[in-house]
Amino acid sequence: MNVMITGSKGQLGSQLVELGLPGADIFDYDLDMDITDSSAVKKEFLKVKPGLVIHCAAYTDVDGCEQKKELCYKVNTEGTLKLAEEAKKHNSDFLFLSTDYVFDGTKKIPYVETDRPHPISVYGDSKYKAEKIIRGLLDNYYIVRTTGIYSRFGKNFVDTILKGAETSQKLCIVDDQVCTPTYSLDLARCIKELVSSKRFGIYHATNQGQCTWYHFTKRIFELMGVDTRLMPICSSKLNRKAKRPAYSVLDNHNLEANQIFFMRSWEEALKDFLKKDYGK
Ligand SMILES: NC(=O)c1ccc[n+]([C@@H]2O[C@H](COP(=O)([O-])OP(=O)(O)OC[C@H]3O[C@@H](n4cnc5c(N)ncnc54)[C@H](OP(=O)(O)O)[C@@H]3O)[C@@H](O)[C@H]2O)c1
Repeated sequence: MNVMITGSKGQLGSQLVELGLPGADIFDYDLDMDITDSSAVKKEFLKVKPGLVIHCAAYTDVDGCEQKKELCYKVNTEGTLKLAEEAKKHNSDFLFLSTDYVFDGTKKIPYVETDRPHPISVYGDSKYKAEKIIRGLLDNYYIVRTTGIYSRFGKNFVDTILKGAETSQKLCIVDDQVCTPTYSLDLARCIKELVSSKRFGIYHATNQGQCTWYHFTKRIFELMGVDTRLMPICSSKLNRKAKRPAYSVLDNHNLEANQIFFMRSWEEALKDFLKKDYGK
């Protein structure tokens, strides 16, 4: 089967291309198929005739999306529509990567797939609008919502933090945003199982447990033996353009109820990541 992966130079796309899928010929695309360009998308679909599309491409700069709203909706919503229309024409299964930012973060316990989205940022809204398009247009879709991806590819949180620690004596990290950092390799393995299950629908897919970015960073420093001072701060101190949900922990209910994939804890995943990629 031919599999088209969009956003293949990003964190998750790179991981998926590296991991591969059994029995699949992978056709990976990044900016070489601009998803906002209908004719480019049509041309590549005709060429590849994908049995499955894994759509990772997105404009993911959450604060940038507030400033460049038009671009954000053009890429995240309209780009997804163009791909979904072609997927419908070619009867391709379609997996769309969505986000915890479709929720407003007012819940106090993990969000399940049936909870009602209520985005509070342009980015979250652009992804939720894309979800609605997919649900309206396609039958054979997977919507996979995840949180806080880190990886050794692209813009990588762990790398940024460790580089920051090399050049500063003190780092201030947000301590009032609770989510679950998710290792790209675990997410890619989960996607591999999900697409072979053919159980279409909406899925939450993150590592288990929860923490703030401050606690995540603290654990990285402990495991890496870094002694740079860490200061917990409120997100309001950063004057960021986009609002973030204060609590966006996702419950992987559908993955587990259907026995498709069980994610390990974020701490186990982090240890494995640091061992594999930083030799710790
Ligand atoms: N990262 C997270 O924490 C997180 C959390 C929840 C959900 N998600 C979702 O998960 C997916 C994968 O995330 P990620 O972290 O792997 O994202 P990423 O690293 O930002 O990768 C996205 C890729 O898409 C490319 N792209 C942007 N505009 C495009 C266009 N018009 N046409 C074709 N490609 C385009 C980007 O290129 P440039 O970099 O050159 O622009 C980048 O290579 C995204 O859909 C994201 O919304 C991510």
